[in-house]
Amino acid sequence: MSSHDREDAHPGDAHLLLEAINVTKQFPGVKALDGVDFELRAGEVHILFGENGAGKSTLISMIAGAARPTSGEFRFNGSPVHLNSVHEARALGISAVFQEFSLIPQMSVEENLFLGAEETRSGILQKRALHRRATEILKDLDFHLPVNLPVSRLTRAEQQMVEIAKAFRSELSVLVLDEPTASLTQHETEQLFRLIARLKADGVGIIYITHRMSEIREIGDRITILRDGHYIDTVDAKTTSEDELVRLMTGRVVGQIFPTVSYNPQQTLLEVSDLATADNGVRGASVTVRRGEIVGLAGLVGSGKSKFTQACFGARQIASGMVKFKDEDVTGLSTRKMLDRGFLYLPSDRKNDGLMMMRPVRENVSLASLTQRPVSNGLVLSAGGETRMATELAERLHLSPMRIERTVEHFSGGNQQKAMLARSLTREFDLIAFDEPTVGVDVGTRAAIYRFIAELCENGAAILLISSDLPEILHLSNRAYVFYRGQVQAELEGAQITEENVLKHFFEREAA
Ligand SMILES: Nc1ncnc2c1ncn2[C@@H]1O[C@H](COP(=O)(O)OP(=O)(O)OP(=O)(O)O)[C@@H](O)[C@H]1O
Ligand SMILES: [Mg+2]
Repeated sequence: MSSHDREDAHPGDAHLLLEAINVTKQFPGVKALDGVDFELRAGEVHILFGENGAGKSTLISMIAGAARPTSGEFRFNGSPVHLNSVHEARALGISAVFQEFSLIPQMSVEENLFLGAEETRSGILQKRALHRRATEILKDLDFHLPVNLPVSRLTRAEQQMVEIAKAFRSELSVLVLDEPTASLTQHETEQLFRLIARLKADGVGIIYITHRMSEIREIGDRITILRDGHYIDTVDAKTTSEDELVRLMTGRVVGQIFPTVSYNPQQTLLEVSDLATADNGVRGASVTVRRGEIVGLAGLVGSGKSKFTQACFGARQIASGMVKFKDEDVTGLSTRKMLDRGFLYLPSDRKNDGLMMMRPVRENVSLASLTQRPVSNGLVLSAGGETRMATELAERLHLSPMRIERTVEHFSGGNQQKAMLARSLTREFDLIAFDEPTVGVDVGTRAAIYRFIAELCENGAAILLISSDLPEILHLSNRAYVFYRGQVQAELEGAQITEENVLKHFFEREAA
């Protein structure tokens, strides 16, 4: 097929940009991909779909030149290619935004934008040219980022935008996005989708990895499903039903995703009045949480719900207001002291706050149960007990592969998330705050996580569920607070927690 008939032809006739033929990737002890085929046409959004650990990131890392296949072939515009580096791929117009960021925190946005690119000669002229080019790219993308600020000062969403912008520093013919919206706000997600539409119209081929059904419908053209390193099928994104997709992905029919929770609210454990944070991200928020209930904190990314919880947990500076936990004033206490008192916060950013990437899963799992530094106070878990506990938890959350001695960095993104969640079960906590617990997690695991949160609640724990995923809040919480710009806009209970009611407070202020 030639490219001249691209415009008038239907997608089936579109120019074939990229092919993977019978590709296998063997890691020590794990065959991440086994004889996988894949093709990408010009002007399509091709979704890669599959459970955590299915091999999606592995496939795209080879397409983007970051890894080499063990066997098999890649073709670009019909000719075989052997990519030895990300740089070589980029020279062909293949750019990827990976799941894990590769930004240098101390360097500025514009320096990061051109990191590893050709234009890194020093000199004042060069600097000006870079600045101009960086500003141009960001303007073109409609991303509002402070180009001179070090990346460490940006929010997670802003860092994600820098990663995306990096892909645009050279001519594109293939763009790869690995769960790009996991930490974007609604507004930025819309911007990204507009951008994708523009690229499609220009004939760029886009490979897009997501676990979110709504995104598949909105921007996908075709979907290729991988399971356990194997190619399963390629289907139409607009007409294939959700049930069918889940069946293709898991090889079975997954029942109900949300459990029915029996709430049994008891005494108040956490009572927060008029809390404001030093960075002004939270301004005068009051929230209570009782034993035996799941309290949802809803709101857009950046609405203050995470900062609020971090401040209660001692992980963020408080300017005014009071935090009471079990009737004790704990305002401003350290996170260690909060852990000692039975309050655990599980952050959403697993790489930065959550996990020790270079340590095995077993150690990460047992971390929270060591309330003192490991060797002090004689509080040392027996090695056997630690292994048993970690194994049991890993099984419950379907860790894949089931190897607790493997270092965390070698697991797929969703499986890293599971390792972090397992920590909350290692000890009795009275209050557990889950911050976006299912970001990047597949449907089957999602159901397991929900069941697990429900059980904690039914066993008498108090749960704070911080989520930007509305269905999660609607199905799991018996009370919910909606945050907007650092303030609590509404408190809803029981039958009041409807999509309409919550959304109403997502964007606008309640009439006083
Ligand atoms: N560097 C590595 N060393 C060893 N094993 C690895 C490495 N990277 C990935 N794997 C393994 O390869 C398999 C596929 O992982 P991959 O990251 O491609 O999954 P994924 O489909 O992207 O999952 P997720 O949805 O969780 O991101 C997993 O079993 C994983 O543990
Ligand atoms: Mg992945």
